[in-house]
Amino acid sequence: MKKAIYPGSFDPLTLGHLDIIRRSAKIMDELVVGVLHNSAKNSLFSIDERVSMIEEMTKDIPNVSVASFDGLLVNYMKTIDATIIIRGLRAVTDFEYELQIAQTNHVENPEVETIFLTTSLQYSYLSSTIVKEFASYGGDLTKFVPPEFIDRIYEKYQIERNGF
Ligand code: PNS
Repeated sequence: MKKAIYPGSFDPLTLGHLDIIRRSAKIMDELVVGVLHNSAKNSLFSIDERVSMIEEMTKDIPNVSVASFDGLLVNYMKTIDATIIIRGLRAVTDFEYELQIAQTNHVENPEVETIFLTTSLQYSYLSSTIVKEFASYGGDLTKFVPPEFIDRIYEKYQIERNGF
């Protein structure tokens, strides 16, 4: 039984994240999307909003569930009996940070393995940070996030969606 976690902040979930979720759900028996509850980080969406937004977008994938966690990822993984971490790799710039985290997690618990999926080409530039920056200036988000999220993101910035 291959049970994996795809951890992240998902503030908000992007089309790139959704692509990784769909592809890794095909490889794993069970996939938990783990949303980091980081009170130190000033997030755009609350933890409950982020969890329910991801649930909404993954309800058609039977082996995917969504949960929030705080503290160390490896500790949370023990509580849900998962041993595989999924991460998406976009460019070389992601590599150093991801390698450090993967190795730290493996040292902490040698049972834990990280599997990297390379991001699909059309999402290789995309991140939640870019989405927020773009949205804050009224940019067109249709290529970045699920259409259902666009108005919710704009509401957070209290700006009107203009012409798209
Ligand atoms: O979407 P992000 O912000 O790149 O996700 C980072 C995340 C959540 C995977 C990472 O920060 C994490 O696992 N945080 C929990 C604390 C932890 O276990 N850190 C790794 C060992 S230092």
